[in-house]
Amino acid sequence: MRVCVIGTGYVGLVTGVCLAHIGHQVICVDNNEEKVKLMQSGQSPIFEPGLSDLMKGVIEAGRIEFTTDLAAGVNHGEILFIAVGTPPLPTGESDTRYVEAVARGIGAHLSGYKVIVNKSTVPIGSGDWVRMLVLDGVAERQQQLVSSGGGTTTEIQVDFDVVSNPEFLREGCAVYDTFNPDRIVLGSNGQRAISLMKELYAPIVSREFAENQSLPTVPVVVTDLSSAEMVKYASNAFLATKISFINEVANICDRVGADVTQVAKGIGLDSRIGSKFLQAGIGWGGSCFPKDVSALIHTADDYGYEAQLLKAAVSVNQRQRMMALEKLQQVLKILKGKTVGLLGLTFKPDTDDMRDAPALDLIEQLHRLGTKVKAYDPLVAQSGMRHGLSNVLVETDAERLADGCDALVLVTDWQQFRDLDYTKMASLMNHPVMIDGRNFLDQEVLESAGFRYVGIGRCG
Ligand SMILES: NC(=O)c1ccc[n+]([C@@H]2O[C@H](COP(=O)([O-])OP(=O)(O)OC[C@H]3O[C@@H](n4cnc5c(N)ncnc54)[C@H](O)[C@@H]3O)[C@@H](O)[C@H]2O)c1
Repeated sequence: MRVCVIGTGYVGLVTGVCLAHIGHQVICVDNNEEKVKLMQSGQSPIFEPGLSDLMKGVIEAGRIEFTTDLAAGVNHGEILFIAVGTPPLPTGESDTRYVEAVARGIGAHLSGYKVIVNKSTVPIGSGDWVRMLVLDGVAERQQQLVSSGGGTTTEIQVDFDVVSNPEFLREGCAVYDTFNPDRIVLGSNGQRAISLMKELYAPIVSREFAENQSLPTVPVVVTDLSSAEMVKYASNAFLATKISFINEVANICDRVGADVTQVAKGIGLDSRIGSKFLQAGIGWGGSCFPKDVSALIHTADDYGYEAQLLKAAVSVNQRQRMMALEKLQQVLKILKGKTVGLLGLTFKPDTDDMRDAPALDLIEQLHRLGTKVKAYDPLVAQSGMRHGLSNVLVETDAERLADGCDALVLVTDWQQFRDLDYTKMASLMNHPVMIDGRNFLDQEVLESAGFRYVGIGRCG
């Protein structure tokens, strides 16, 4: 099928490349010229495991193109994905101006029947709003034709359906998640659009490209537009709340002398609860959870409902982000004039995404208290990213990081941090202290390497 994906960030590029890989003919549109040039030269502007190789393959096969030309993308696609960013506004609402620009732009070039798919996470009700904007774009085009044609012209006929197809991929395993989804959600009032979307995803639904092809087919949940939009917000709100829940339990564990890692194991084996998202630590972050939970709280407010549970999940998370600081103060007492090294910066491992990473809050607070901050992150070191990292000495390896530090804080649970030479690192530090902000490291290994080990909710 012919597909156009508008917006080539973490969601759009992965979607475009994966759809091309399963056999569709894809045009990816982005208004960032630099990004488009990079992609045209075969390089991915983001890091996602497996993405670069897949991208090379589909470029060589001639199944994908990259352009800044929206008209070319709209003309090409039977299915048009909107995958632009919806970042948070200071009020907590989503900033939907990029979706608005794209929807109007689609209207300006629309012809024939098209399926317009909201893959961006958009406020509930956006399906109808996008329909209205597309029609506005069509009307503007009509107006221009009338003006340029001296007042007479035939009426532009358009035919399209809007579909909400929320995205659930996790950064760091986005390609895997695209080929191995737990479910596909399709919200629309148009039967024709749903049939085309099912045809588009058929190879994924039948697990042709899955790691385990013998699993039953992927469930496809068909809903109305608003319910599909709500599924996305409710999923992220649930997961964020689950993490805040275990963090709250961890803080109580700290006080009563229990170990939250053992407690989480005991809770997680209950099949009604499940073991995922029960790792206590320094809180959730990234480009999705904070903004999606805030947007849902905001939507509830707009409709006269106070989302008390979600507000509590956010406030537990804000406090949790300061937990590493609290632990540092407990161990080192005065932080002014001390040097703290951060192991990891990105909000989770296997991504280069720093949006709303807990590390950024920690850095700000450490600076406020007069502490010198050094950091090492495998991807940040490679890419030379500096956004939000002014006044942070970014080291190129973990031993350089440890050198001269009064304490280290593990911020991101990169797999390779399990196998560092902690004995050597301890020998280079002023005080070999490790605050394990993700309860990720082996306490015994750290202690036998000479560290004082402090976890979250582990009586330390
Ligand atoms: N990142 C995730 O893990 C994730 C997961 C699920 C859903 N989502 C949602 O998907 C959407 C996209 O997220 P993302 O992380 O990929 O965003 P992103 O910021 O990484 O990428 C957005 C892209 O859209 C482009 N863009 C902006 N305006 C444009 C326009 N008018 N025309 C063409 N391109 C334009 C930008 O240049 C950028 O490349 C958001 O709504 C987000 O909430 C993200």
